[in-house]
Amino acid sequence: MKFFLDTANLADIEEAASWGVLSGVTTNPTLYSREGGKLADFHAHLQRICELCPGPVSGETVGLTRDEIVREGEELAALAPNIIVKVPVMPEGLAATKCLFDKGIKVNMTLCFTVPQALLAARAGASYVSPFVGRFDDISEDGIAHLAETVQAVNNYDFGHDVEVIAASIRSANHVVQAGLIGCDIATVPFAVLKNLVKHPLTDRGLESFLADWEKVKNS
Ligand code: G3P
Repeated sequence: MKFFLDTANLADIEEAASWGVLSGVTTNPTLYSREGGKLADFHAHLQRICELCPGPVSGETVGLTRDEIVREGEELAALAPNIIVKVPVMPEGLAATKCLFDKGIKVNMTLCFTVPQALLAARAGASYVSPFVGRFDDISEDGIAHLAETVQAVNNYDFGHDVEVIAASIRSANHVVQAGLIGCDIATVPFAVLKNLVKHPLTDRGLESFLADWEKVKNS
């Protein structure tokens, strides 16, 4: 499984990248807004993320027509070679994805909540399909069960181009465990979740006792 960071926070991206485990970054308008992002700085901010993380970096479009999305997508794709254009699943988004695919621009289709949405996204040419997990849990549905169905359905077909499923809207380490058991290609996680993935109390306790015993060795 590859780990992407789901954030627009530069310091978190820099730290996660320093661990050597960061394969990509996903952003969205909410995450950029959370960083106090201004419209005028949006492109420069994405470029900085692309410098910090050489893997795929998703920047999202906000247009509602095919032509608006394509125009935004072309602008985003010109920012850096590792930009992925993130497009919401909707008819205009599918049409734009097909246009961007034909222009050789990679798309991550987001806000996927159903198997048909994911299959349509892949068929339109999306390189990444992002089913949301946590938002199902928020409405008392089983987000992991939905993810499992999406991964199975997408993996049933050869779309003629590479398609990877990104488990998105991840809220906990257990979501990552379940996504890994399902065989999901990628989990995009908030930095707080990534930090939790590394931690275990037995690791902490074991390290503490190893270091204490090493002090005895040094002093012997
Ligand atoms: O980036 C899309 C997705 O990961 C958002 O997650 O927590 O806002 O549901 P969340």
